Amino acid sequence: MGSFGYRAWLQPAKTQLGFLPKLTGHRCFAFEEFAYGLESLFGKKPGDDGDYAISLEIDKGLPWEAYTLRGDLAGLRIAGGSEKGLLYGAYGLLARLCLGEPVETLNILEKPTVAHRVLNHWDNADGTIERGYAGKSIFFQGGRIGYDLPRLKDYARLLASIGINEISVNNVNVYPDSAKLITEEGLPDLAKVAEVFRPFGIRLIISVHFDSPVILGGLPTADPADPAVAKYWADAAKRVYQYIPDLAGFLMKADSEFRSGPAALGRTQDEGANIIARALAPFGGRIYWRCFIYNCKQDWRDTTTDRPKAAYNEFFPLDGKFDDNVILQVKHGPSDFQVREPNSPLLGAMTQTHQGLEFQITQEYTGQQKDLYATAVQWEEIFDTPVTDACMTRDLAGREVTAIVAVANTGTDANWTGHLLAQANLYAFGRMAWNPAQTAEQLTRDWVALTFGTDPAVKEPISAMLLESRWVYEKYNAPLGLGWMVNINHHYGPSPEGYEYMKWGTYHRATHTAIGVDRTTHGTEFTAQYHQYVRDLYESKKTCPEKLLLFFHRLPYTYKLKNGQTLLQYIYDTHFEGVEDVQRFITIWDSLQDKIPPEAHTSVQERLQLQLANAQEWRDVINNYFYRLTGIPDEKGRKVYG
Ligand code: GCU
Repeated sequence: MGSFGYRAWLQPAKTQLGFLPKLTGHRCFAFEEFAYGLESLFGKKPGDDGDYAISLEIDKGLPWEAYTLRGDLAGLRIAGGSEKGLLYGAYGLLARLCLGEPVETLNILEKPTVAHRVLNHWDNADGTIERGYAGKSIFFQGGRIGYDLPRLKDYARLLASIGINEISVNNVNVYPDSAKLITEEGLPDLAKVAEVFRPFGIRLIISVHFDSPVILGGLPTADPADPAVAKYWADAAKRVYQYIPDLAGFLMKADSEFRSGPAALGRTQDEGANIIARALAPFGGRIYWRCFIYNCKQDWRDTTTDRPKAAYNEFFPLDGKFDDNVILQVKHGPSDFQVREPNSPLLGAMTQTHQGLEFQITQEYTGQQKDLYATAVQWEEIFDTPVTDACMTRDLAGREVTAIVAVANTGTDANWTGHLLAQANLYAFGRMAWNPAQTAEQLTRDWVALTFGTDPAVKEPISAMLLESRWVYEKYNAPLGLGWMVNINHHYGPSPEGYEYMKWGTYHRATHTAIGVDRTTHGTEFTAQYHQYVRDLYESKKTCPEKLLLFFHRLPYTYKLKNGQTLLQYIYDTHFEGVEDVQRFITIWDSLQDKIPPEAHTSVQERLQLQLANAQEWRDVINNYFYRLTGIPDEKGRKVYG
């Protein structure tokens, strides 16, 4: 794998080390990884003739995964609360050295805010990836586990270097082949994958099928109230832990998008989750239970059912009923990974229940790794948005939210993520899950510098492009929080009414005079699910953030925004601007030709051209749609293409 992108943020450093390292201290995997890192990043093999001592030591006074870096002229000490903390310390120091930070003044304590920093792969046993845009699965081939071992190790290193400590490898939509991962047939191979990730401090999670007792266990029902079903899960857990003693647990998508689940059997979600939680508990395992439940067979004429209300309605009344080793995994927004959504009202609302926050790194609705889109910018907004009157999500991340989870964007493409710059999203995810207080700006700059070097002539323009990219994409996407104006099924490119008359509950209800769904207490009452402070904010058109206006309110096209512009003119303008912005990105990228490895430069250039075509199509289709509906021309007289 000689390609530039393969090394991702572990590229050979463009900075010089300035000393010859001599390593001492606690010999463990972290010690070896640090030595390997010095050699592969700086070309310097640590040895006895070194002139600067770096010691690795365990400090039991530190939290388990924490580390300190303390340097002076005589040497530097990496201390870890455990060997795992030391491993993070080793990667942390290597990154700082690559960024050119002076070692002799380092004085740092790093500890994760969030205990479970999780990546969910949506990989199928046949090697395809649901919503994957970077090749095939790294974990599966031909109906079973299958991988390239050196590549798998390199992947484990990449993930560990950004602090990820749990991964699921199989899709939450569990099909028969991957259902078998918890059987004698599947476990030996999966145990080998676990072995690869174990030294890197990464534990596996298995996505399981709710009907396993039936399809694998031969029982007549998967009803959680049936003692035979409880026994099935207990036996399954015992078997799984014999093969993978440090398994983090199971992941379940139940009663969602045609998947079976407790509700279909007349049981509640807690009954379904707890029966599995109790099977896992003796082994220290956990069940991640997804809250992505809604009516996916809605009649579009039904205006009383409102999909964003579904998760809260289903789960909030059950607060306090889930066992301690259940983590409810909640998508960040109440809709489904759209470009712009408010935060889910379920986040932080359940005070007696562990929650995990779910993001999507893979760019399903955000340009599919053809279009540039820095997810960190969106996550930062999510963390900064109040969900209760008392606290912000950033604080919640360290308290009620015990896990931060994201759907991975990686595959067998040589550069892992298809779009080279989409590596920034994986990098930022790990770092933000470790500490949600880190800013998108800092993480983006770090990623750019680690990947392309610290030269400001490269670092500044690429960082600026990335940081702007989310807003640029939003400009040519569905306006003002509407979402869903995508082509059905594959979700790339515009189709304003693609989902409008379908069963998925995704309606904007545009007529020739007005658009949007009234989700206030005068409408579907979705806003009533929020704490008072947040409810009031969204309830009024005056205080509702404009970027979410059409998510919460139904408005005429002539509605005046704060700057005096009409809603319709805003839509026209942003869609024209989005295309101009992409053209500007192309000019910037072209100007970097001599400063970036040719292969990397060309591959991004190609993606930007695809993005331009996409942005133009969005502009033309969306603007034309609204022009035809309203008959109101663009005030600036530009041509709206048909
Ligand atoms: C989205 C996505 C599906 C996925 C689902 C989920 O709807 O399009 O592919 O299965 O989310 O999160 O379960």
